[in-house]
Amino acid sequence: MTKDASNGTLGISQSTPNGQVAAPEIAPFPNVGVPGYPTFLPQQPQAIGSLLDSDKFPQNKRPPKLFEPLTIRGQTFHNRAWVAPMCQYSSDNGHATDHHFVHLGSMAMRGWGLIMVEATAVVPEGRISPEDSGIWDDSHIAGFKRIVDFVHAHRGKIGIQLAHAGRKASTLAPWVERIAHDEGWDGGSVPSEQVGGWPNNVVGPSEISFQPGKYPNPIAATSEYIKKLKQAYLDAVERCKKAGFDFIEIHGAHGYLFHEFASPLTNRRTDEYGGNLENRLRLPLEVAELIRKAWDKPLFYRVSASDWLENVEGPEKGASSNEKDEWAWWGLEQTTILTQKLADIGIDLIDVSSGGNDLRGQIAVGPSYQVHFASHIKKHVKNILVGTVGIITEAHQAEDILLRGDADVVLLARQVLRDIDWPLEAAQELGAAVAPAVQYERAWSRMVVKRETCTSPKLHTGISLVEGEEGRQRKHRSESHSDSK
Ligand SMILES: Cc1cc2nc3c(=O)[nH]c(=O)nc-3n(C[C@H](O)[C@H](O)[C@H](O)COP(=O)(O)O)c2cc1C
Repeated sequence: MTKDASNGTLGISQSTPNGQVAAPEIAPFPNVGVPGYPTFLPQQPQAIGSLLDSDKFPQNKRPPKLFEPLTIRGQTFHNRAWVAPMCQYSSDNGHATDHHFVHLGSMAMRGWGLIMVEATAVVPEGRISPEDSGIWDDSHIAGFKRIVDFVHAHRGKIGIQLAHAGRKASTLAPWVERIAHDEGWDGGSVPSEQVGGWPNNVVGPSEISFQPGKYPNPIAATSEYIKKLKQAYLDAVERCKKAGFDFIEIHGAHGYLFHEFASPLTNRRTDEYGGNLENRLRLPLEVAELIRKAWDKPLFYRVSASDWLENVEGPEKGASSNEKDEWAWWGLEQTTILTQKLADIGIDLIDVSSGGNDLRGQIAVGPSYQVHFASHIKKHVKNILVGTVGIITEAHQAEDILLRGDADVVLLARQVLRDIDWPLEAAQELGAAVAPAVQYERAWSRMVVKRETCTSPKLHTGISLVEGEEGRQRKHRSESHSDSK
C-alpha cells in the first residue's frame, strides 16, 4: 500500500512490484433491473418487510407473529401489517392520478404486507365524493395498472376495495367541507352539480336520509337498479383482473350501501331485499357470491360489526319498530351470522370495523377499540380469516393482538399516513430482521442486525385492550373516530 502520488491525495492505491498501479479487479455484478418494467427499477432481492434469512439472523428462527407470512389462495402476503383502505378525494372522474401513484407506490417501498386501494365506486353515483376513486369504466384500468405494476415490481401485494356509498354518496370532500365551514357555511354537505355532485341521484335501500338537512335524500333502489348494480360489480371484477390486482375487498361497512341494506334501521323495504334478516342480507350475499364465482384470487369483506346502539335502542335482538323483523339494530350477533354465510360462500377474510350508519352510536374509541369484535367473530366462525382495525399504532400492541389469537392480521390506516415506515420500525422494536428496500438499506442498519432471539414473544400488557370508561376517556384525549369514510 502506498500513498497515491499521482494526484497528491490521501487515497491509497496498490502497486505491483515493478511500481505500476494495479487495476482493480473488475466486478461482474450488475445492478439488475426489474424485467419488463418500463423504466429502470433495481430488483429487490426479496419482498420489502419480509424476514431475512434465519441462518444469518438467528432471531428470525422464532419470528414475531406480525412478520409471519400468510398465504391465501396461493398469494403469499409476506407479513401481517396491512394498509387499510383510505379515501383520498384525489381522483379525476374516478381515475387514479399521480397522487395515488406516489401515495400507494411509496407504501410499496416501506414493507407493508398488503396495500389496499381506497373505496372505489363500481358506479359513478356510488362515490362518496366527486373526487373518489372509480372503476365503472374501462378507462379506469390503466391508472390502476400503473400502480399495481409498480407495487409488483417491489414484490408487494395490492388489492382494491369495491364500493357503493348508498345514501351517503355525493358529499363534500372533508377538507372542502372544513374550508366551507371556516368561511361560515352552515348548509348541507352535498356538493352542487356545478362542482360535481349528484344530489338527485343518490340511491339507498329506503328513502331515509343519513342526516336530514345535511345529507342527500336518497331514492330507494328499484329492482332494475339492483340488477344493474350486480352487473356493475361483475364488470368491476373484470377490470380488476386487467389491472392485475392481487385481491378484492367488498366494502360492506361504515354505513354505505351493503351496511344500509343489512341494518333494520336503514332498510325498510317490503320486497325480498328487506324485512327479516335473511332478506336484508340478500343483496350483500348475492354480490359476494357473484364476485366469488368470477374471482379466484383472495376475496375479503369489510363489515361494520356494530352500530354501538346498546345505550340508545336496548338489546340488538329486541323490540323492533318493524313488525316483520325481530332485530332492533345492526350489531355483533347479526354480524356473526353474516360472517358465517360469507365464509360458507368462500370469502377468505372478514375485515372487522364498526360504526358509520347511525349518528347516535356511542363508540368507545381507544387503542384496539374494535378488537373485541374481531375476537368474537374469530371464536364463533371457524372457516374464515379475521382482520382487525382501529387505533392500532404500536408494534407490541399489534403483536399482542395476533398472539392472543384475536385476529389473523392487523390493518392500520392513520398510522400509515403518519409513519409510512411503521413495518420496519415495528420489526426493529420486536427484534426481527426484515428486508428494507435496497435503496434504503443504509437507513436500517440498526434493524438489520444479528441477534440470538427476538424480543420475548410473551404477551405485553397495558396497551392492547382499553375498554369501558378508560376507553371513553381516551376518546377525548386522543383521536376522533374516522371510520365513517
Ligand atoms: C383518510 C381516511 C380515509 C378512509 N377511507 C376509507 C375507505 O376508503 N374505506 C374504508 O373501509 N375505510 C376507510 N377509512 C377507515 C380506515 O380504513 C380505518 O378503518 C379507520 O381509520 C380506523 O383505523 P385507524 O385507527 O388505523 O386509522 C378511512 C380512514 C381515513 C383516516
